[in-house]
Amino acid sequence: MVQAEIGYITPAEVRQYNIGSVLNGGGSWPGGNKSATAADWLAMADDFYNASVDKSGGRAGIPIIWGIDAVHGNNNVRGATLFPHNIGLGAANDPDLLERIGAATAKEVVATGLDWTFAPTLATVRDDRWGRTYEGYSEDPEIVNRYAGRVVTGIQGAANSADLFGPTRVIATAKHFIGDGGTDKGDDQGNNLATDTELCEIHGQGYMSAIPAGAQTVMASYNSIRGKKMHGHGDLLTGVLKEKFHFDGFVIGDWNGHQQVPGCAEDACAAAINAGVDMIMVPYKWKEFYENTIDQVNGGQIERARIDDAVTRILRVKMRAGLLGPKTTKGAPSERMFAGQQAVLGAAEHREIAREAVRKSLVLLKNKGSVLPLEASARVLVAGNSADSIPNQAGGWSRTWQGTDVTNADFPGATSIFKGIQEAVSGGGQAMLSANGAAASSGNFDAAIVVIGETPYAEMKGDIQPSGDSGDSTAHAKTLEHALFHPEDLAVLRTIRTAAPQLPIVTVFLSGRPLYVNKELNLSDAFVAAWLPGSEGAGVADVLFGKQEFQGKLSFSWPGSECQKVNRNDGGEALFPYGFGLTTKDQDTLGELSETSTGTACN
Ligand code: GLC
Repeated sequence: MVQAEIGYITPAEVRQYNIGSVLNGGGSWPGGNKSATAADWLAMADDFYNASVDKSGGRAGIPIIWGIDAVHGNNNVRGATLFPHNIGLGAANDPDLLERIGAATAKEVVATGLDWTFAPTLATVRDDRWGRTYEGYSEDPEIVNRYAGRVVTGIQGAANSADLFGPTRVIATAKHFIGDGGTDKGDDQGNNLATDTELCEIHGQGYMSAIPAGAQTVMASYNSIRGKKMHGHGDLLTGVLKEKFHFDGFVIGDWNGHQQVPGCAEDACAAAINAGVDMIMVPYKWKEFYENTIDQVNGGQIERARIDDAVTRILRVKMRAGLLGPKTTKGAPSERMFAGQQAVLGAAEHREIAREAVRKSLVLLKNKGSVLPLEASARVLVAGNSADSIPNQAGGWSRTWQGTDVTNADFPGATSIFKGIQEAVSGGGQAMLSANGAAASSGNFDAAIVVIGETPYAEMKGDIQPSGDSGDSTAHAKTLEHALFHPEDLAVLRTIRTAAPQLPIVTVFLSGRPLYVNKELNLSDAFVAAWLPGSEGAGVADVLFGKQEFQGKLSFSWPGSECQKVNRNDGGEALFPYGFGLTTKDQDTLGELSETSTGTACN
C-alpha cells in the first residue's frame, strides 16, 4: 500500500518494510544517471524485484511493481520513441492509431524491466490556461471516450483475451480521477465546480471506456470537487468508482496528493485510505507513512477491513498482471521478453508509428494563396527557435519532468523538424537554417518555414494564472496571448516579412494548447498547428511537402482573443471551432485579423 521513489529507498528497505511498489518521478533515473540504458533500468528493476520476493524470515515474498510516467512513449528513458502529446493525438482523430501507440509504448516499458505506466491521462480540458492541457486529448468528452479504452487495450492487451497482460504488455492507469481538466481558471490542482451531471457527462467519459477495457489502476486527482479534495473524497473514489462503476482494480494516489486532504500530512493520511485510496504515492517519507499507518490501524482510525480490501485489490492486480499466484507468467524482470534490449527503445517500427501520428496530428489553420504543399525542389529558408530543437518539439515529460535542461543530444535517434525538411527537399531544392530569419535578405528563397511556439513546461509550471508561476519570469499580464510570453517569435516573422515582403511564410506553431496568435497569423501565409510532435519531427515535412494531405481536425476550440474561454457546443464563437482543419485543396477564407489586446490578466 506504500509506494516509494527509487532514489529514496534501497532493495534492502523494500525487503525490510515489505514495500509493494516503487516509482521514478519525471527526471529520475537509475543511479541518477540521465543516460541510463535499458540494461541499467533492468538491473535496478531486478534488484527491487529480487528483494521483494525474498521469502527468508517467513516473508510473504509479494513481487513489487515499478510505475513510470510513460505518457507519450517511455519518455523518461534515453533513446525511447516520443509520440506526439495527447493534444496532437486528439487532432488525429484515429482510435486505431492510439491502440498501436499504447502497444508500442508498453513494449518500450517492458524493455526497461518495468511493470506499469501512469497513463493514459483522461482529462477533458475546459480551460486552456491549465499547464496540463496538452496531456488531454480534447476539450470534449467524445474523443476522450473514443480513445480511452483503446489506449488501455494497447497498453494492457484486450480484456478477456489471451493477450491480456501478455509478455509485451504492462499495467495501465486511468488518470486523474476525477475532474482534473475542469478546475476554475485552469488552476492546476485547483477547484472543479462542476455539478455531478457535468462530472459524469464531461469529466467521466474517459473512465466509461477505460474501465470496461480493463484498466487495472486509477490515479486519484489533486483537484477538489466543489471544495472537497479528491484524495479524501469517499463518495467519488468508493461510492462512484468502486461501487457504482464496479472498478475492482486499485486506486493509486498522486505524488503526495494525500497531504492536501484536511488533517493529513506527507507522512500520515488515514482519511485518504478510508476514502478509497488503496496505494499511497509517498516518494520521500514512505517509512514514516508506513509506521504511522500501522499506528492508525492499531489505534482504530483505519478499519482493518479497509486495509484488507486495499491489499486484496493490489494483489488482484498483481495476479492479473501475471506477477503472482497460480497463473504467474512473469518472473524477474530480467527473465521477461525484451529484457534490457536497447534496440526495442526507439525501434524503427515504433518511430514509424510516431511519424504517422505526427502527420495525422497537424492542423492547417490558414493557407492563403495555397502556399502549401511546397515543392521538393523549393529553396526554403528555415527559421524560428524551434526549427532544430528536439526539446521544444517534445515538450514536458521528456527525459526530465519539465522537458527542460535537455538538448538534442539527449534524444538519440530523434529527428528535428529542420532535419526532416532537409531530407524532404530534392531535385535542386535546398533548406537553409537561419534561426532569427536574417538570411531572408539574401533573396534566394522560394518560401520560408518558421517553426515557433511554446517552450517546454509541465503541470503547474505551465499554468497561465494571474498569480501563478507560469514558468515565465517576465512581469507581463497572464493571458493566452503568445506574443507576451515569446516576443522573439513575432520578431522572427517581422524580420522575414521586412527583408523579403513577397516571400511566402509557412508558420509551424508548436504548443501545448490553443493560444491567441492573431499577430502571428497575420504575418503568415500558411499556419499549421503542430502541437508537441515528439521525436519524429520528419512527420511535419511529410505533410508540408505533400507526401501526405493534412487530415488533422481541432479537438480544442481556438480562441480569437486573449482571454476567450470557448469549448464545443458552449455557444461561444471561436476563431477556429472544434473540428476545424483545412486541407491544401480547400479555399482559404481567413482575412486580416484583429490584433487588439488589453494586456490585462484574464479573470
Ligand atoms: C505527478 C503527476 C502525475 C504523475 C505523478 C508521478 O505530479 O500529477 O500525473 O503520474 O506525479 O510522476
